[in-house]
Amino acid sequence: AKKAVLGPLVGAVDQGTSSTRFLVFNSKTAELLSHHQVEIKQEFPREGWVEQDPKEILMSVYECIEKTCEKLEQLNIDISNIKAIGVSNQRETTVVWDKITGEPLYNAVVWLDLRTQTTVENLTKRMPGNNFIKSKTGLPLSTYFSAVKVRWLLDNVKKVQRAVEEDRALFGTIDSWLIWCLTGGINGGVHCTDVTNASRTMLFNIHSLEWDKELCEFFEIPMKILPNVRSSSEIYGLMKISHSLKAGALEGVPISGCLGDQSAALVGQMCFRDGQAKNTYGTGCFLLCNTGRKCVFSEHGLLTTVAYKLGRDKPVYYALEGSVAIAGAVIRWLRDNLGIINSSDEIEKLAKEVGTSYGCYFVPAFSGLYAPYWEPSARGIICGLTQFTNKCHIAFAALEAVCFQTREILDAMNRDCGIPLSHLQVDGGMTSNKILMQLQADILYIPVVKPSMPETTALGAAMAAGAAEGVGVWSLEPDDLSAVTVERFEPQINAEESEIRFSTWKKAVMKSMGWVT
Ligand code: G3P
Repeated sequence: AKKAVLGPLVGAVDQGTSSTRFLVFNSKTAELLSHHQVEIKQEFPREGWVEQDPKEILMSVYECIEKTCEKLEQLNIDISNIKAIGVSNQRETTVVWDKITGEPLYNAVVWLDLRTQTTVENLTKRMPGNNFIKSKTGLPLSTYFSAVKVRWLLDNVKKVQRAVEEDRALFGTIDSWLIWCLTGGINGGVHCTDVTNASRTMLFNIHSLEWDKELCEFFEIPMKILPNVRSSSEIYGLMKISHSLKAGALEGVPISGCLGDQSAALVGQMCFRDGQAKNTYGTGCFLLCNTGRKCVFSEHGLLTTVAYKLGRDKPVYYALEGSVAIAGAVIRWLRDNLGIINSSDEIEKLAKEVGTSYGCYFVPAFSGLYAPYWEPSARGIICGLTQFTNKCHIAFAALEAVCFQTREILDAMNRDCGIPLSHLQVDGGMTSNKILMQLQADILYIPVVKPSMPETTALGAAMAAGAAEGVGVWSLEPDDLSAVTVERFEPQINAEESEIRFSTWKKAVMKSMGWVT
């Protein structure tokens, strides 16, 4: 059959905490042509520990590329039209591997992992001034970020210690691990990261855009294991896959976009102007507001982070970020740990049956609480139970928890920015849940606006890749950015009721704190 004639295509790897996807877009229309998704396992070897297998992550990328290419062929689309590939990834998750064997030296320590709590306490005592880390990195000293995870690996894993001594160890967040493997691995793989991912390690100076020597000394992390920091849109290397899969069909295609997933979603939602914000509902939930070329420091528990730098000679943009650790993860927990649903979409059906939590509140502080509290001692609670409560109410309370947590970070954002957001742009897997979206509008008391194409994270990575110098198949000029059609959810309850529910939630949050001493 004759192949369909399309403009240049761009692929994007979207490697999240819960799943991996590969998606292919038409660079002229931003239309999503095909994609494939694979769920990723999470291991919980001890209370509070969260690990993933870096090899499984890599294999899932190969599988997604292979399956997407097959689907494109079935659609009669020539995969040789794929001109560039972008990578977006779960941030902070830490891998150390051996550059000679190509083998990871330990499982990936996932961003949610709490094993470094004592490390954090000890480092807090040694900190030369309260603002030492925050002023350089925009981040509080927390288990969330990579530096303490690397410190733990250096302190506890013999193989890592030995590889560092023998100059064989490389550190990277998931973007670095994937790009190194996809550009050849032990046969000349490129060891790099981009400014957005680097800004989540707690080792990166967000003003000078370089690894910070003083921070590396403070955490006692050898600078020789760190990747090269590049912009979010430039050619890092060419695909060179030593794997007998269809993935090999992309051999020689440049990898030219790289952004942490939350930055990628900001780009994919076209939030290029100061004051534009988006909230992504994935494993966690992350509200980012573009603050332009200024680094704004929060007074209300938000992070300052690098939003993007779309080209080697392009300026850097910053964002304020409200991070919530557990959003979609609470649904997975109801499925895997309680078994009250068989698949994630069943949650909507359960919640719909009751339409209320009937006074039940669920604070899913499984990994402590992130913004705005930054309280590692918190643990999850379900409260307000009576004999009347059933699994539908708990399902409803789980959805409400996601919305209340978003309300907390939105309030913080409004206080820091001074100008309240008039509506909330949303994306991510959970936004297909209409009950959740309506609840969110009710609890925020502003409209919630959703693009018709929800894969904005992948779109952002594809845009960065397609726009890179030397690729040039995607234009990022404001005039070329097509307006996305949207679905809108307006608040439907009265403001007073919304406030009462929110203040009861706050009471529940207070009860979840100080659980671990
Ligand atoms: O900071 C963690 C974040 O990047 C994870 O994203 O999509 O897996 O919830 P996600």
